[in-house]
Amino acid sequence: MSNYKLIKIPKIEDRRGNLSVIEKDCVPFDIKRVYYLYDVPSGAYRGGHAHKALQQFLVALSGSFEVILKDGKNTERVMLNRPDQGLLIPTGIWRELENFSSGAVCLVLASDVYDENDYIRNFKTFKSSKRT
Ligand code: TYD
Repeated sequence: MSNYKLIKIPKIEDRRGNLSVIEKDCVPFDIKRVYYLYDVPSGAYRGGHAHKALQQFLVALSGSFEVILKDGKNTERVMLNRPDQGLLIPTGIWRELENFSSGAVCLVLASDVYDENDYIRNFKTFKSSKRT
């Protein structure tokens, strides 16, 4: 599957601690919404849906978790575990998030505001949307 992308986030290293910054040129969409997942209990599972139009950029601000990506044909598993790297999920990709470490924080930058109508929450519906 070639349409997801791991993107390096610029890092300013300092003895006092590192600083990473996400600016316009890092993410290929205008950021309309920011949210984050945290206090995820061990063994919990998030995601389990695709989006019709939304693009997202995920960053493990702390800890680690795995993202399973499905395009209807292929499946890939990506581990996110560093705050200077983000995963760009384009439109029309099924995603599942699991194996959150203790204290993991998943930052999500999104190309649009929340809209339940943009979700495809049924995997069969997702698969058939890929065939048409
Ligand atoms: P959902 O997107 O399914 O979470 P995840 O994919 O991380 O498992 O959203 C969970 C609930 O939160 C759902 O009822 C919708 C609500 N929600 C909002 O109200 N606004 C938002 O921006 C998001 C992302 C979710």
